[in-house]
Amino acid sequence: MSNPYRRDFPIFDGSDVVYFDNAATTQRPAMVLDAMKRFNDSCNANPLRGLYRWSMQATEAYENARRAAAELIGADDYKEVIFTRNTTESLNLVAYSYGLSQLHEGDEIVITVMEHHSNILPWQMVSRVTGAKLIYMEPERDGTLTDAEIEAKITDRAKIVSVAQVSNVMGVTNPIRRIADCAHRHGAVMVVDGAQSTPHMPVNVKELGADFFAFSGHKMLGPMGIGCLYGRMELLDSMPPFLTGGEMIEYVQRQTATFAEVPEKFEAGTVNAMGAAGLHAAIDYLKNVGWDQVMNTERELTERLMDGLSKIPEVTVYGSKDPDKHCGIVTFNVEGCHPHDVASVLDTEHIAIRAGHHCAQPLMKWLGVGATARASLYFYNTKEEVDRFVTAVGKVRGWLGY
Ligand code: ALA
Repeated sequence: MSNPYRRDFPIFDGSDVVYFDNAATTQRPAMVLDAMKRFNDSCNANPLRGLYRWSMQATEAYENARRAAAELIGADDYKEVIFTRNTTESLNLVAYSYGLSQLHEGDEIVITVMEHHSNILPWQMVSRVTGAKLIYMEPERDGTLTDAEIEAKITDRAKIVSVAQVSNVMGVTNPIRRIADCAHRHGAVMVVDGAQSTPHMPVNVKELGADFFAFSGHKMLGPMGIGCLYGRMELLDSMPPFLTGGEMIEYVQRQTATFAEVPEKFEAGTVNAMGAAGLHAAIDYLKNVGWDQVMNTERELTERLMDGLSKIPEVTVYGSKDPDKHCGIVTFNVEGCHPHDVASVLDTEHIAIRAGHHCAQPLMKWLGVGATARASLYFYNTKEEVDRFVTAVGKVRGWLGY
């Protein structure tokens, strides 16, 4: 197939599967698995604890991964990056640690209706416990958040504003800088869910104005079970720990304890150092491909895919009509067909997409649907795959007996 990167991914070797579920999880190049095997075969030991060679090498691999993640997102200090399991855990860390300690009745947390459940439920919890109110910004029908809506919803009562940089359903890129500026003008902190942006575009937390920024390794060629939370050092320093236990302490007495410095304060228990080594390799791989290549390929493929779907009268695509505003994510329905049936029938053609509510039920309600089908692309996909997908979607109704 006409994409030089595919040969780096063992799963594609000899496979005819069209993998269009990249917004859920991306595939891993051999380089990532090699890096994890290297860790396993050369220095597998508990990092941060041992005074022997393997443990020190494991610590070095882990901290080098932290440096790579910090550089990727433009953090000033690599210690501002905390390793977590995934974006969900990163956002929960902010909610439990910052949210519960800072918010009170009368305060507001502002999010959007297009958030993933992992950027809704932690704030519902903070709201329940503290009495703070959860406020929703509503986009236009094409997914655009207007300045008027931002200014109307973020007021002096806002203490936390938390928004996805890219929607996992509509693919729209939100104006984070403008939202952050408004949040800061009102004295709120800006939390960014970067799960769907970090794999697809250059990200700079300073330029975005993010006080916290969360992302996952498994959506950007890395292993599952490793993710990151960036936080401004001043904030992280002042926050209480989220989880407590091993390696996050300074001194422990019978009734009290003092805590380690950031980032260890937020990394209780044995860490996922092999996962971090894999994420480091994934970051290196992406750097080598280059963002221009990633973005141009995705733009071209998305345009072809949306153009193909627009010729099938029974297909509705949600969000903007402009392929440039989808970040490789195209969510759609086929008239009269349940999205689960669409996905199942496409699976018989060896085409993998996601169908359901995409962990975004408030957005489904806002769109006026119970569920949708979603194709999500990455730079290793090909035009031939897009054409196979479009042809198959055109036949779905026939296959389902319409
Ligand atoms: N958050 C992932 C998705 O949107 C799982 O599919």
